[in-house]
Amino acid sequence: SKISVVSIVGARPQFIKAFAVSRKLRTNHEEILVHTGQHYDEELSDVFFEELGIPEPDYNLGIGSDTHGQQTAAMIKEIESVIKLEDPDIILIYGDTNSTLAGAITASKIDSLVAHVEAGLRSYNREMPEEINRILTDHASDILFPPSESSANTLKEEGISENVHVVGDVMYDSILWARDISSEQSEILSRLNLEGKEYILSTIHRAANTDNPDRLNSIINALLDSPSTVVLPIHPRTENKLRSYDMWEKAKSGIEIIDPVGYLDFVRLIDESECVATDSGGVQKEAFYLDTPCITMRDETEWIETVESGWNVLVGADKERIQEELRTRHQPQEKPNPYGDGTAAIKIVDTLVSSINE
Ligand code: UD1
Ligand code: UDP
Repeated sequence: SKISVVSIVGARPQFIKAFAVSRKLRTNHEEILVHTGQHYDEELSDVFFEELGIPEPDYNLGIGSDTHGQQTAAMIKEIESVIKLEDPDIILIYGDTNSTLAGAITASKIDSLVAHVEAGLRSYNREMPEEINRILTDHASDILFPPSESSANTLKEEGISENVHVVGDVMYDSILWARDISSEQSEILSRLNLEGKEYILSTIHRAANTDNPDRLNSIINALLDSPSTVVLPIHPRTENKLRSYDMWEKAKSGIEIIDPVGYLDFVRLIDESECVATDSGGVQKEAFYLDTPCITMRDETEWIETVESGWNVLVGADKERIQEELRTRHQPQEKPNPYGDGTAAIKIVDTLVSSINE
């Protein structure tokens, strides 16, 4: 029978993940969508609701930016009221942000069922705020949806083996939907005066890079000396830091810095780039799905299969390493398919329905 789900989202990548599940869920079931307000700028939030046709959130908690403690606490308080009011069959949370953790803690404290999409991922770097969010969320969840066999194994090693369902990656569902539409509709290349396969696409927003002036400076210097044009849709966090470190003018002088773009434009930019240089979690996978070589400006990754396959390479924040890899194209002959077949969303919905109706 029909189930009711409270889905909690708050940050850019969660809108893209929830989109895939939401459209399957809503064909037969009830979804109450909660936006925590963690991301609130038009280009980090509204744009995704509009272009993906995600229904208006039933609740926008309007939490906004703050210290991790203040932000997460405010979310917990508001989410608790919503869950008490709505009394859903289950809470659905995505990824590893503070919005994810807030949902997990709230649900487990009031004894509501909670399901985690993108479970079992680990960077094994505990200084990364997302790593703590992942661990705590997985251990507070009742149903876990790891995207790959390796992430299911990680859960097992941590003692979590019940109600674990390997469904594949929901972002794969999203990008399969977006790829053709974006190549028909997106005008981003002509808007930016770019030719396909003649530019490098970059994103930077990880705390370890933005909050460390040496690392950020080294990355910017590497991109400034890149062999091709570098297009950098900039996260507000990174712009703020570049300005406060007095590096903004230098960065603008040789990097094509643009405002963050919508999903369809971004998918188009990945698809047509020579290679991607990023510290994002989601963008590493999207490059992989679109057969675009990726350079990851981090010391470790949760998406190990992309590195093992040779399509992604970890370069940290070292200028020489980044530049060396910017000149190499990592496109092995073979590409494995560790993250499912792009039908994660329907598997998630079917599993939720059968778990609840049991
Ligand atoms: C958050 C997630 C991160 C995820 C990323 C996706 C946590 C701990 N981090 O990082 O895992 O990869 O989202 O993009 O949950 N800001 C704005 N406008 C906005 C939102 C943020 O200007 O709409 C600025 C504010 O100065 C804010 C800073 O960005 O302080 C950081 O925002 P926050 O949501 O705390 O973390 P992100 O870096 O976006
Ligand atoms: N993205 C986007 N516009 C941009 C940059 C990223 O639509 O200017 C999308 C990208 O396609 C991916 C998601 O945002 O689906 C990744 O989000 P982000 O890198 O902010 O977070 P992470 O995945 O690291 O948590």
